[in-house]
Amino acid sequence: MSFLPFTRPQLDEATIAGVAEVLRSGWITSGPQVKAFEAALSRLCGGRPVRSFSSGTAALEVALRLAGIGEGDEVITTPLSWVATANVVLEVGARPVFVDIDPNTRNIDLNSIEAVVTPRTRALLPVDLAGLPVDRDRLYAISKNRHLRVSEDAAQSFGASWRGRILGSFGDLVAFSFHANKNITTAEGGALVLPDSKYISLCERLRLQGVERSGEDGMEVDVLGGKWNLTDIAARIGLGQLPHLKAFTEKRRSLAKKYFELWKAGGDLPPADFENSNWHMFQVVLPESADRSRFIAAMRESGIGVGVHYPAMHLFALYRRLGWHAGQFPHAERVGRAIVTLPLFPAMEDADVERVCKAAKKVLG
Ligand SMILES: Cc1ncc(COP(=O)(O)O)c(C=O)c1O
Repeated sequence: MSFLPFTRPQLDEATIAGVAEVLRSGWITSGPQVKAFEAALSRLCGGRPVRSFSSGTAALEVALRLAGIGEGDEVITTPLSWVATANVVLEVGARPVFVDIDPNTRNIDLNSIEAVVTPRTRALLPVDLAGLPVDRDRLYAISKNRHLRVSEDAAQSFGASWRGRILGSFGDLVAFSFHANKNITTAEGGALVLPDSKYISLCERLRLQGVERSGEDGMEVDVLGGKWNLTDIAARIGLGQLPHLKAFTEKRRSLAKKYFELWKAGGDLPPADFENSNWHMFQVVLPESADRSRFIAAMRESGIGVGVHYPAMHLFALYRRLGWHAGQFPHAERVGRAIVTLPLFPAMEDADVERVCKAAKKVLG
């Protein structure tokens, strides 16, 4: 039986041929494919302006810069995410302020936010872990009430929705990732949805060395920008992926349903949300008694890949040096120690889910 990874990108032949065409075209970095990809993303996001980036991390960092966040500011976020979420806050010179997660959703506990708001708090940085959206109604009620910007880390929730509206089509700044593991990929890449066209010019300058061109030969630089443009090669992959978004999401939902039906190995399952979540990952928090590293090794021996997303990031040395320590966020710490990501990608079949569930039951006893 072939090895079942926890995820695998699905690229069709037309996309592969399209990439070859771009490679032969004489224009391989940002150009017409990037423009077309951004236009397609904008259509998906209700016509709001969208700009692409070389990574989701870059999109998130630019989101914070566009919100005017910098030295001395505080940004409230979750400790349970890919470390990029907090790293970008440090990159812009601000301080990430963590609050614990809700152990049911595994996302930021919205009840804990207001208690840590200070006069220095400038923004909320929620993460939709595994593609399960943070409650947008409550999130934006808090942001409005406390006059805070929102930079949605929707890296994992592209294609997910909140009460029937696709993420990115409403709200403040929304950042997506198209990393190879994401539901829709450009190999590496990301995008930022802007709340208003007034942000477009600065967004584009921050993306590429601060450069603003005018006329045939004019060039000015008045802000420090990065080097974060997406290539046409990558954008062409994204354009080939977008038409599959709906089917991919549906297949993921159907596989997730199968997990709920067949999982008998114990531990905590995620919320059974088949309306909003894009099921970017199917994650189980193993029982206290289980040894996670042994579980991962035993599953690998059965030909099944299991991922870890993620250890609580306030416990990384970089963040401990900033004063964060064990015991502050018991839910995030417990989940971070015991969470595993099971195989889930659109090319899987129900029989693969069955195989995972059987192997896990055998390993966990
Ligand atoms: C929650 C979260 N935030 C940010 C990122 C950063 O995205 P990228 O890897 O495209 O830079 C990722 C993706 O890996 C992520 O999962």
